[in-house]
Amino acid sequence: MNYLAPSVLSADFSKLGKEIETVAMAGAPIIHLDVMDGMFVPNISFGAPVISCVRKVTDAVFDVHLMVEEPIRYLEDFHRAGADVITVHYEACKDLTATLTKIKKYGVKVGVSISPDTSADVLQPYLDMVDMVLIMSVHPGFGGQSFIESSLEKIRTVRSMLDEIGKKETWIEVDGGIGADNIVSVMEAGANVFVAGSAVFKGDIVANVQKLNALIQ
Ligand code: DX5
Ligand code: ZN
Repeated sequence: MNYLAPSVLSADFSKLGKEIETVAMAGAPIIHLDVMDGMFVPNISFGAPVISCVRKVTDAVFDVHLMVEEPIRYLEDFHRAGADVITVHYEACKDLTATLTKIKKYGVKVGVSISPDTSADVLQPYLDMVDMVLIMSVHPGFGGQSFIESSLEKIRTVRSMLDEIGKKETWIEVDGGIGADNIVSVMEAGANVFVAGSAVFKGDIVANVQKLNALIQ
């Protein structure tokens, strides 16, 4: 199954609940929530209290992308806030096994992410523990950047690594610079969850969701 996951980083935060409701009603099954701590990435976004508030407006899957140093400290907060998928960065965890194990304990989907400069090979020891691999196709920290083309090769590599260990059901999510011009190539490379921030929230939100959804069906 393919899923569109609008990133609310590009939403109008003065009406965040309303915009989340709008994308969900327009047919986006997953809401991507970018949490930034100003340490792992040079930007600060929002944390668990905001997620907990917007949890009330939709039953859509809440996909929480933690761009946070040592996220193990905050997993319980995001679980309580209503996350359905919690993704941590390989680069941000001293003990990734312990971090992934703790996410699993909460009964939510377990995600691991790599930044553009990190090789897919580092994921090998963790692939049997995760439900989703998030491949960053921009340097994490800001919305509205251009898609890094070499990410396509990385998606193919991760898809074949998963195939080799018989984990064909594991999701591959791609995040950064995705829009109507490249979403099909990202899908053909082997991804099935497509994060889009500016391509959804700039302009007509409903029409954007419908257009991107149609491309991945
Ligand atoms: C970047 C975030 C992305 C970002 C995507 O650090 O993880 O989710 O908001 O935004 P666009 O689609 O505009 O590149
Ligand atoms: Zn993200």
